[in-house]
Amino acid sequence: MAEGNPPPLHPVLQPLSFLLGTWRGQGEGGFPTIQSFKYGEEIKLWHSGKPVIAYSQKTWKAASGEPMHAESGYWRPKPDGSIEVIIAQSTGLAEVQKGIYDAERKMVQLQSDAVCNASKVLSIGRVFEVKGDELMYTVEMGIHGHDQQPHLRAVLKKV
Ligand code: HEM
Repeated sequence: MAEGNPPPLHPVLQPLSFLLGTWRGQGEGGFPTIQSFKYGEEIKLWHSGKPVIAYSQKTWKAASGEPMHAESGYWRPKPDGSIEVIIAQSTGLAEVQKGIYDAERKMVQLQSDAVCNASKVLSIGRVFEVKGDELMYTVEMGIHGHDQQPHLRAVLKKV
């Protein structure tokens, strides 16, 4: 394949093509143990013709632009509507997420199957939804002493 030509989308990715692209926007974070905060974010989701979506995300402090959390990984959907997402975080934490996607509602719902190399985090839930040209997501986490509950919420626009 000539370099520069986009490869054809693998049929397995067709129901998730609503996710592909570069998204930029703002989010808010909080948890009972910390002060709430605001951040800017860019998410990239792309493919190389294989049945997997590559994912990378970076965030920055809303007020100063100073870099914050970043992560990257791979989204591996199956034709039966299930999906597995592997994410490596800049903090050293690694997640294996399992869940479902809904092509009509443009939604992906994930719950951690494994969280590794984390000092506090026991579980992570993620929901992504596309409405029009907006990508919205929430992240919940459970840590020692605190059941799984919201940590992040963001809205990004396709750029
Ligand atoms: C705090 C986990 C994503 C910003 C925390 C804490 C944990 C955590 C365990 C400490 C809570 C405590 O000490 O009680 C995670 C996980 C994430 C995630 C599992 C993704 C799944 C992010 C992102 C950002 C962020 C994307 C920035 C945009 C912060 C900030 C704090 C924090 C600012 C407070 C730090 C402090 O006050 O010392 N996070 N985080 N986190 N997180 Fe996250």
